[in-house]
Amino acid sequence: MESIDDRAALRTRPAEPSDDHFMIQLSREVFHIYGPYERIMESWLKSGLAECLIGSFREKAVAFAMMSNLPFEVNPAHVSELLALAVVPERQGTGIGGILLKEMEKKAAAMNIKGLFLHTALDNTVARRLFKRNGYQARGTKRSYYPAGQDAIFMSKQLGAKAMETPGSQGMKW
Ligand SMILES: CC(C)(COP(=O)(O)OP(=O)(O)OC[C@H]1O[C@@H](n2cnc3c(N)ncnc32)[C@H](O)[C@@H]1OP(=O)(O)O)[C@@H](O)C(=O)NCCC(=O)NCCS
Repeated sequence: MESIDDRAALRTRPAEPSDDHFMIQLSREVFHIYGPYERIMESWLKSGLAECLIGSFREKAVAFAMMSNLPFEVNPAHVSELLALAVVPERQGTGIGGILLKEMEKKAAAMNIKGLFLHTALDNTVARRLFKRNGYQARGTKRSYYPAGQDAIFMSKQLGAKAMETPGSQGMKW
């Protein structure tokens, strides 16, 4: 296995249909405690309303990120939800999640998305630290948000230098 310094060897690319199996299986592995995420992931993938990125080492997929991509007619605020971020268990804790998150933010900004929001389990301290470190602010909690009953924390981040520079900006309201 590569050392942490080999993170430079991590490649990110848009997901292809042949990656669906990897994303569904990894979702089952890491999200099953929250509910039937294998099926939920399948339906997100089928919807055609999600953008996914794959992180890989030497062509082998090790992580993915997924965000919603709704048509602007039904999304006038131009915001997207980060629906999932997952790293294979044997590579967690080496910074891959952070790399993929930043790549997803770049992709979102290139798509003129103004902000990202997400839910993560209240007790998922690793994920909460990752999002906080990357500039996501906690906006509130949602009781029994997950199918298995866990509470979630709702976080968001505004994207793009322009919006951040606006004097007196009140930030995004969601
Ligand atoms: C949450 C998850 C995506 C985070 O991915 P990751 O690659 O492990 O996360 P990070 O990039 O933040 O790294 C995590 C830890 O590794 C540490 N780390 C070690 N070496 C590092 C390096 N070279 N660079 C950056 N971080 C490093 C970080 O400091 C961090 O530790 P901390 O949280 O104690 O501060 C991953 O753990 C995962 O897939 N979990 C299961 C699914 C899940 O919960 N997803 C989130 C909800 S959608």
